[in-house]
Amino acid sequence: MIEVRDLSASYSEKESKKVVFEGLSFEVSLGVPMSVIGPSGCGKTTLLYLLSGLKKPERGEIFFKGEPLNGHQREIALVLQHYGLFPWKTVFQNAALGLRIRGFSKKETKEIVLPILKELTIDHLLDRFPNQLSGGEKQRVAIARALALKPSLLLLDEPFSSLDAFTREHLQNLILSICRQRELGLVHVTHSIEEAVFLGEKALVMNEGGYDLLSINRVRMAERDPEYRKSDLFHQYCNLLRSYLKR
Ligand SMILES: Nc1ncnc2c1ncn2[C@@H]1O[C@H](COP(=O)(O)OP(=O)(O)OP(=O)(O)O)[C@@H](O)[C@H]1O
Ligand SMILES: [Mg+2]
Repeated sequence: MIEVRDLSASYSEKESKKVVFEGLSFEVSLGVPMSVIGPSGCGKTTLLYLLSGLKKPERGEIFFKGEPLNGHQREIALVLQHYGLFPWKTVFQNAALGLRIRGFSKKETKEIVLPILKELTIDHLLDRFPNQLSGGEKQRVAIARALALKPSLLLLDEPFSSLDAFTREHLQNLILSICRQRELGLVHVTHSIEEAVFLGEKALVMNEGGYDLLSINRVRMAERDPEYRKSDLFHQYCNLLRSYLKR
């Protein structure tokens, strides 16, 4: 789905250039979700901006379904680190935003958005504003907005980091089943080793001065269920990933 070759990212500062990462190469295929993990500031969000086409690579190439990625691609949906909801719009309006921008009529938008809000069990909150929602509910609105655009690749930036363990695991299960049902590719950034292993099959471990690409999960996405978290195998994979983070 995505092929990244020798990718570098930097930001210009007053008179200098700050390199965030260099020489990143990897592939993400459908059905082989990738987790991105690494310390704060190592460039995870920057990488997602590049993969979504919202930021241009300074060096290196990104291919999406075999074609060079030039600018924002409609099939790629990015869910931002802090939800990106508009405080003056209701749950329904926030979830419908992408479709309205693309010119869908009110009727069409409703037909697409309502079943998704129902699937995410927030259809009773349609008229609430973001400041009247819990963190988990806000996150679901942001996910609904992304799914409404029928993407084929979902990019999630620390989706569940501010949530309690219970809500977090519930939403992880939900993302897993959504990706399975809709056959979505997934790249997801996290600070949690357990989350990386539960949702990912590959892990990109980003550290200052380099990166590692690991196969962290031989249990296929289709075979994972909430019980998988309790298994010895799951803990073995977590320990494997932990050992790479320590390096
Ligand atoms: N627009 C910008 N201009 C200049 N520097 C930036 C900009 N955005 C990010 N940076 C810098 O680039 C580096 C990588 O930022 P990025 O947001 O990608 O990190 P991250 O790995 O997502 O961190 P976190 O885990 O805290 O979210 C940081 O040092 C950050 O200060
Ligand atoms: Mg970030």
